[in-house]
Amino acid sequence: MSVDPGSDLLAPLTGSIAEVREAVRAAQRQGKRVGFVPTMGALHAGHASLIAAARRECDLVVVSIFVNPTQFAPHEDLAKYPRPLEADRRVCRQAGADLVFVPRVEDIYPAGFTTYVTVEGLSSILEGVARPTHFRGVTTVVLKLFQMVPADIAYFGQKDYQQQTIIRKMVADLNLPITIRVCPTIRETDGLAMSSRNVYLDSAQRQVSLALFRTLELARTELARGERNLPALRQRLRACLGSDPAVQPDYATLVDPDTLAELDTPGPRVVALVAARVGTTRLIDNAVIDLR
Ligand code: PAJ
Repeated sequence: MSVDPGSDLLAPLTGSIAEVREAVRAAQRQGKRVGFVPTMGALHAGHASLIAAARRECDLVVVSIFVNPTQFAPHEDLAKYPRPLEADRRVCRQAGADLVFVPRVEDIYPAGFTTYVTVEGLSSILEGVARPTHFRGVTTVVLKLFQMVPADIAYFGQKDYQQQTIIRKMVADLNLPITIRVCPTIRETDGLAMSSRNVYLDSAQRQVSLALFRTLELARTELARGERNLPALRQRLRACLGSDPAVQPDYATLVDPDTLAELDTPGPRVVALVAARVGTTRLIDNAVIDLR
């Protein structure tokens, strides 16, 4: 396979591991800094903001698009996950990507694949309760992608707070030679965090999904007003998240920014994390709240 050079509208594309690795190495040999944005495609303004951040500080920007089977449970949306490749290449081009890497499933997971990497502890709480094998799939594919795209800096969204925490832990624990940047959550004008899964919501569900953002706003205002009884506040957050019967809350909690342990009394920073199901769609969101 070779690079499809793209056009004014579409970013260049390759499916070849050897080719993307050589593009990164060649740039680094010339003293260039390489940025990498791993994604599952169905790109929106949140993804574009990561690509733009990479564009601002790197000389070569690589975006990967790979709907990673190992992070989906059997009952989840792997088969129906949106895959609009041409639109994605357009977003990549506009946001400033130089190369889009779209590997094939059989190249990432050849027959007989048995090696996984797990960040213990952090992977089994919060999202890991509802999705017990999810983070094992995420860390395995991200480590593999870092091998194929040996960039200097990789960009992740704060939107997936637990995911970026786990990836930073993996990078530290395994001495991976890559810097992780975490970029702010991009939202719709009414506050809903952008997500590739928002397309599953019908208009009534889209309305009630605002419960997640409203719950985070409640956490913010109560902590700003001086509330320090976090168990009590947690109960109120849960009630707020579940105030519409169309929203099934999973958790609404206040945790330590690094360990994700539930806090009873706040440190200098508190992270509010929320997860809920709206119909069959699972939504998550978070806010980092600075109390200093
Ligand atoms: P995906 O959901 O496509 O997200 C790719 C990156 O975009 C992640 O770092 C995610 O946190 C970030 N992102 C998503 N929505 C965002 C928003 N509204 N604002 C800012 N950033 C946002 O996360 C994954 O894919 C996968 O788990 C992956 C890391 C690629 C491994 O398969």
